[in-house]
Amino acid sequence: MIRVQGLSKTFGNLKVLDDLSLTCSKGEITAIIGGSGGGKSTFLKMLVGAVKPDSGEIWVDGSPIHALEDLALNDVRRKMGVLFQQAALFKSITVAENVALPLVENTDLDESVVAIIVKMKLDQVGLSDFDQYLPSQLSSGMQRLVGLARAIALDPKIVLYDAPTAGLDPIAASAISKLIKDLNQVLGITSILVTHDIMGAVEIADHMALMYQGRILHQGSPEELLASPEPSVRQFMHGDPDGPIQFRKSREEYEKALFEEAQ
Ligand SMILES: Nc1ncnc2c1ncn2[C@@H]1O[C@H](COP(=O)(O)OP(=O)(O)OP(=O)(O)O)[C@@H](O)[C@H]1O
Ligand SMILES: [Mg+2]
Repeated sequence: MIRVQGLSKTFGNLKVLDDLSLTCSKGEITAIIGGSGGGKSTFLKMLVGAVKPDSGEIWVDGSPIHALEDLALNDVRRKMGVLFQQAALFKSITVAENVALPLVENTDLDESVVAIIVKMKLDQVGLSDFDQYLPSQLSSGMQRLVGLARAIALDPKIVLYDAPTAGLDPIAASAISKLIKDLNQVLGITSILVTHDIMGAVEIADHMALMYQGRILHQGSPEELLASPEPSVRQFMHGDPDGPIQFRKSREEYEKALFEEAQ
């Protein structure tokens, strides 16, 4: 289980997280949605201890991430797989070598055992035929899958996904969504999914949380959020550009700015 309490973080004079609290239940998929620049990736980086909060507590599987030193942090990190927003593969080594990296770095397993695990992981994401390819020889969707195979290489209890379907065609996107669900159900992985793909999240998430202005504005089951009469939730869930959540100036202000600039 993951529990964060009262997380705050300011970069310069930008308050990115503002007293954010959230609990993600064991074995569930928690989807976090919210506008660009809202602090979602920062939040995931905090869960793995890569970014320190200014205040607040982060508990992952009973460990206080906010208070741990690097060495102890590494032990907790091994339980967590991360699929970054950019697949972040090493370009000069093969797909198999990329997936093997966490195993080589964190275990004393024999090379032949590593090779077997890598094969199994690539098979799980449907890429076993591509083990000798370089990342650049794969499509971006396939690269994402390699990142996923690498994220699950150490059999993590928890996997964090940062926008895993962004920029993919609908078929590749739903294949990844289905894979996330399968890994969650078959391996019992507790999953946190940050995404702009609302309908993809609705399909697979057990719990959804809407992040806005550095806090969780609303949370509940996908059905609850979809049916919510709350204007800000409706706006986000149904992708309506007009509503209480401001992505830009109001139309009047925008027209005024255009008009003034034209003069
Ligand atoms: N290391 C940093 N130093 C300064 N500012 C940062 C840093 N990391 C993030 N930010 C700022 O914090 C804000 C939140 O960034 P973050 O990447 O968490 O947003 P996000 O919700 O993941 O957005 P998106 O949906 O576009 O991925 C942004 O304004 C970003 O510029
Ligand atoms: Mg992000």
